[in-house]
Amino acid sequence: MKGIILAGGAGTRLYPASLPISKILLPIYDKPMIYYPLSVLMQAGVNDILIITNPEDDTNFKKLLGNGSQWGLRLSYKIQYEKRGIADAFLLGEDFIGQDGCVLILGDNVFYGADLEQRLLQATQNRQGAHVFAYEVPDPQRFGVVAFDGQGKAFSLEEKPQTPKSNFAVTGLYFYDHQVVSYAKSLRPSARGELEITDLNKLYLQQGQLHVHRLPQDFVWLDTGTHESVFAASEFVKTYQESHHLQIACLEEIAVQKNFITASKLKECAAAWPANSYYNYIRENVLN
Ligand code: DAU
Repeated sequence: MKGIILAGGAGTRLYPASLPISKILLPIYDKPMIYYPLSVLMQAGVNDILIITNPEDDTNFKKLLGNGSQWGLRLSYKIQYEKRGIADAFLLGEDFIGQDGCVLILGDNVFYGADLEQRLLQATQNRQGAHVFAYEVPDPQRFGVVAFDGQGKAFSLEEKPQTPKSNFAVTGLYFYDHQVVSYAKSLRPSARGELEITDLNKLYLQQGQLHVHRLPQDFVWLDTGTHESVFAASEFVKTYQESHHLQIACLEEIAVQKNFITASKLKECAAAWPANSYYNYIRENVLN
């Protein structure tokens, strides 16, 4: 399965902080924001990943992540010149996806939960239709909203409804089968001029091919599109890492756990690492 991180957009809600640099390169506590969605794809076992950026930040993403070989990944890049909508990722990624299935994650989504990896692997193994994740929120108007019938089956999807039919937001992590590019090609821009990911999911829903998995409330999901949510995510990462003596989204650790790279190969990079809490953690917990 292929992976795409959508990391374009202007991030105007975080201006002036995101004026000189993509918001997705700004830190969530001790790591750039993109480390978090990248770590999710890696935990799903995906190592062939396309990163879609805006033209201004393309070189900055490459400077940070390179070709991914330091983590045993194959990273490629594509520029989105205009904000044409989230589903545009599948038009930009058509050649990259080929006849494969594809998982898309938004660059500003942070996921954390004890059984996250298990949930991801289930979605990856299930190669039919679309698999998305719903999470109960107090402010569903900000999101794509899914409503369920009495049997718990999804029956409606709406993008940022004024009067939501439920409190379940569709999170920014989407698993699709090989049909995704042809479905995306059939979409037309919405009233706000975007190819909506909710319209794509509706096509799968109409075919009876949309599987919605509810995330439990002890799970952490944050859409870090506002200063408040960036701050909340940073606070969560700091508190959790300190109390559990672990690192969230430590790419080197996940790369070794997933056998994308061996610890001895990783050791070759260690001489270039500075002495700080992130790299000291890897030295002590991954290379030892
Ligand atoms: O976070 C989950 C929500 O993400 C879903 O519930 C919604 O259905 C979905 O539309 C989306 O809503 P947002 O309002 O958060 O989307 P936003 O426009 O902020 O875009 C999300 C990220 O994707 C953001 O980091 C910028 C990037 N993006 C977005 C668009 C529309 C692009 O790179 N290119 C684009 O054309």
